[in-house]
Amino acid sequence: MTQSKKAGPRCALVTGGASGFGLAIARALLDQGARVAIGDIHAGRLQEAVKTLDSDRVLPLKLDVTSIDSVQTAVAACRSRFGIIDTLVNSAGVIQIAPIAEISEQDWDRVIDVDLKGVFLCCQAAAPLLCASGGRIVNIGSDASKLGCGMIVSYCAAKFGVVGLTKALAAELAPHQVTVNCVCPVGVSSTGMGQDVLSWKIRKAGASPQEILAATAAGIPLQRNATTEDVVNAVMFFLADSSSFLTGVALDVDGGLLSTMPLPGAAK
Ligand SMILES: NC(=O)c1ccc[n+]([C@@H]2O[C@H](COP(=O)([O-])OP(=O)(O)OC[C@H]3O[C@@H](n4cnc5c(N)ncnc54)[C@H](O)[C@@H]3O)[C@@H](O)[C@H]2O)c1
Repeated sequence: MTQSKKAGPRCALVTGGASGFGLAIARALLDQGARVAIGDIHAGRLQEAVKTLDSDRVLPLKLDVTSIDSVQTAVAACRSRFGIIDTLVNSAGVIQIAPIAEISEQDWDRVIDVDLKGVFLCCQAAAPLLCASGGRIVNIGSDASKLGCGMIVSYCAAKFGVVGLTKALAAELAPHQVTVNCVCPVGVSSTGMGQDVLSWKIRKAGASPQEILAATAAGIPLQRNATTEDVVNAVMFFLADSSSFLTGVALDVDGGLLSTMPLPGAAK
């Protein structure tokens, strides 16, 4: 029987690693002694991220996940620096908030290219190295991977696709002892994308940030908003040695939003 990789510090590529969840995941990996490549399209953010992470185990990579050449170059750079990649976290992402009538073909392509094709290209390029090391892939989905949500049609389509890609690739790579899982968080307002969504809601509702955040928390069964730490904890769970038997899972990080409801007709 093929054995999964032995315990030890990881060699990771984190896309979207210069900001938000990606940066926080990179930090958590570094805290565990890992060597971490952070790939991001935004050069200025990458520079800032390297400063904040302040570790000689960080490899910053200018990466456009929509470009096969850029992805292959980044994977080759990881291999030449680390020897292997045993961990891939796909966190790069963009969103467009608009009614369907206002989504141009270019807008649609951009969201699908970054959020879905980018995950495919990175998984494909890293797969040989992951197979050689019995590695792990964690994709960042969304609550919009599971529920149709108006005004973010392209994002929803891409994020549903990420769950399908996760499950199909989990099946394909299982014989190589590679696990492929997905973390599906509800909104976190402190990251780049979270700030964009919050700003849109503020404009739309004419309400304060505090009012919006209180309203979203009230809609969550556990009565609070998600944090970056909640998301990082779920990702690190899938990367733990003790999670070696979990694959093809799309885990909701949502305070019970998608899995629970009050007894119909019962008073609150
Ligand atoms: N923040 C939320 O509320 C939330 C909720 C659910 C899921 N997500 C998902 O989490 C992931 C991370 O988002 P975040 O909230 O940390 O946002 P963020 O904007 O802070 O981080 C995203 C990073 O992706 C990078 N990026 C964008 N296009 C890229 C490309 N073509 N190639 C490489 N890098 C690219 C950006 O430069 C940025 O640094 C995304 O996949 C997003 O869809 C976010």
